[in-house]
Amino acid sequence: MNKIIQPPQALRVRGSLRVPGDRSITVRAVLLGAIADGVSVVRDYLDCDDTQAAIEITRALGVEIVASGGIPSELRIYGVGRHGLHPSASPLFCNASGTTMRLLAGLLAGQSFASTLDGSAQLCKRPMGRITDPLNQMGACISATQGCAPLHIQPAALHGLEYSMPVASAQVKSALLLAAQYANGDVIIHEGATTRDHTERMLVAMGGQVASMQVASMQGAAQSARIVNRVSSAPLKPLEMTVPADFSSAAFFLVAGILFPGSQLELRGVGLNPTRTGLLEALRLMGADVKVQNEGIQGGEPAGDLCPACGPLRAIEVSGRLTPLMIDEFPIFAVAATQASGTTVVRDAQELRVKESNRIDGLVDELRKMGARIDATPDGFVVAGPAALHGAVVDANGDHRMAMALSVASLIARGETTITGAECVSKTYPDFYADLDRLIT
Ligand code: S3P
Repeated sequence: MNKIIQPPQALRVRGSLRVPGDRSITVRAVLLGAIADGVSVVRDYLDCDDTQAAIEITRALGVEIVASGGIPSELRIYGVGRHGLHPSASPLFCNASGTTMRLLAGLLAGQSFASTLDGSAQLCKRPMGRITDPLNQMGACISATQGCAPLHIQPAALHGLEYSMPVASAQVKSALLLAAQYANGDVIIHEGATTRDHTERMLVAMGGQVASMQVASMQGAAQSARIVNRVSSAPLKPLEMTVPADFSSAAFFLVAGILFPGSQLELRGVGLNPTRTGLLEALRLMGADVKVQNEGIQGGEPAGDLCPACGPLRAIEVSGRLTPLMIDEFPIFAVAATQASGTTVVRDAQELRVKESNRIDGLVDELRKMGARIDATPDGFVVAGPAALHGAVVDANGDHRMAMALSVASLIARGETTITGAECVSKTYPDFYADLDRLIT
């Protein structure tokens, strides 16, 4: 699909919006709900390509899931307990969902039956050695093809593991915590930089034996964490939760609210887990005024309403601890940086090269077509601002977050922009363009 965007006469976003539920939390709720003892009820779940993959696979493993699309939407997951999953006759197709594939590899590594995990051409290019290596160190028997999917998982008895993660990755941590549910020893994970902790929170809510502690690193200032999953055969309790709105989806409107003059926007019920809100911290450092109201806890996660005010931005440097806390937000952050005065520098973000697309090269190529002054570095990018953007034909690179970030850039550009391949927004936010159109007019 080509999305053609004309900048509106009055550039503003107005109204109140609850963006769809959090993708990371929805996928985890489906997979963990499947092995709970009893029926989990998950309200306001996200219905998109990625979560459909997780739901369909879980059904193929013998778990009944009833989805209803009302307000709130609801998933009922008829958990079969840790040892109640059944083998699937055919390969389990994760589509383009890296979270589904990596977390499932952990869940399936310790089963008494074999499974094959396959995915789209895009997913089959993404690195899987980061999960197969530590899972195989736990005794799993998983083979990949040159470090990539399809993954062939043979039945195995898992033992405990103490593991220092070489990459800051919540998917790796979560795969190990899911495998830990089947290990006959403790699993201890050392995390150099803090990453999203939804799996830990959910396991604790279900009665799992997981504890996280911050430890001072040798360098003193840097944070690192030690996550311990104690061996336990106690059944996991079913979930009863409301999924907060996805901060990563709200991020596109948040930046629009800051960049577009005359905006008046309220983003309701957004997940504000501090392991996810690095973009909010970065925007505030850039001078943005974002109010947070009605803070509370939803589904074991902090949530609240975000009210951004339009105002000027100044350049900052993002690196170290902050980078993993905003790892999915760099496409829209780059758009914000084109409008900030000064030179914005992003470091320690080499992981962006192995997301749904190579986001460093993709952002540089596409935003340059619109007049941005942006250069790639091995582990990030540098943006000189402010730059007056102009319309162009740009490509989403098959990447939902690139499509949505380029859409916000198109609205502040002079002249018409065509975004090719914009249909990929359905990966996490099928109604993105409907919501954008509603708030712009
Ligand atoms: C995710 C973790 C992050 C993130 C991805 C979702 C998760 O990936 O980029 O979109 O749900 O755990 P990494 O763990 O590979 O950094």
